Amino acid sequence: MEPVGELSFAPVIPSLRLDVFRGDEWITAFANDVNYGLGSEPRELPPKYFYDARGSRLFDRITELPEYYPTRTERAILERCAGQIVGIAGAETLVELGSGSSHKTELLLEPLIERAANPLYVPIDFSESAVREASVRLIEKYTGLRVHGVIGDFEKHLGGLPPAPARLFAFLGGTIGNMKSDHMAFFLKRLGRLLGPADSLLVGVDLVKESGELEAAYNDAQGVTAEFNKNVLATINDNLSGDFDLDGFDHIAFFDPENSWIEMRLRANAAQSVRIGALDMRLEFEAGDEIRTEISRKFSREEIERELRIAGLEPYGWYTDEDSRFALTLAAPAAGQIALS
Ligand SMILES: C[S@@+](CC[C@H](N)C(=O)[O-])C[C@H]1O[C@@H](n2cnc3c(N)ncnc32)[C@H](O)[C@@H]1O
Repeated sequence: MEPVGELSFAPVIPSLRLDVFRGDEWITAFANDVNYGLGSEPRELPPKYFYDARGSRLFDRITELPEYYPTRTERAILERCAGQIVGIAGAETLVELGSGSSHKTELLLEPLIERAANPLYVPIDFSESAVREASVRLIEKYTGLRVHGVIGDFEKHLGGLPPAPARLFAFLGGTIGNMKSDHMAFFLKRLGRLLGPADSLLVGVDLVKESGELEAAYNDAQGVTAEFNKNVLATINDNLSGDFDLDGFDHIAFFDPENSWIEMRLRANAAQSVRIGALDMRLEFEAGDEIRTEISRKFSREEIERELRIAGLEPYGWYTDEDSRFALTLAAPAAGQIALS
């Protein structure tokens, strides 16, 4: 798989390369997803479209909110265990899926740089601004680190990753929880096939807990999560000539114990008619009509380990905080599942 282009920098930074896989065709994929999702019942939009430059900035603000425990809990686990994780995985390359601002990543990069002769970081994210800004920051901060960033979709473009030795694939932040069970099984199976005998996968998962704490994390007092949620409507307005009135929708987030997930929705606060010009689509909303915009699954250890095993991956490390709020699980291809490439 070849990139559609490369971002260039002046002056050229020899240890930095940024491949762009997310070309103009993403607009077609976006249009198809919006057409399908808003034309279905119940109406639904994929969460990856929250993350344009504004959405990525809003997510970074969410990670600093007092109610949003996942980021600081995962960070604390990494502060304690990153050296051990990198050592036990024998990693020389860090590939990060949905890397975002790559702030927590520094905790994995530091032991990697210490142990690897030629350390390489490969962030992949849908958001160009996130990959570009993080890559430049890390190159400037860490002498000897090479960065090969990929602006693309980790569900479509992993075939275009650069070949590299002893890769630790990190999938942090609980992003895997945005996938329902079938979707996740399909994704992990494909990812598992990419892993060679020297590679490992580190997955960050949010754990099941009391619903009050979960719901508070997605209903912050400052309303940043509400702004983030509505940003998906702004991306439709900006890219597909939509005329959603963002004030016409309220942010809803609640824990669904049956599915063990937080569900985020946008609820119309009055009857309204919305046009999406690029799709030649008109949508009628009654007051109270909703669009599901995200699920965020909350796992038990048994559940995530079962999902990994179904995908042919064998868990061999479990790192959590003392209150079991969040966990990182380390896995490798099970014997007999190693990719031939
Ligand atoms: C919940 S944020 C987590 C960011 C960071 N890993 C962290 O732990 O703070 C999810 C990130 O994944 C990216 N993302 C979501 N779906 C993606 C996809 N299909 N392909 C590439 N990036 C994706 C988003 O742009 C965003 O930066």
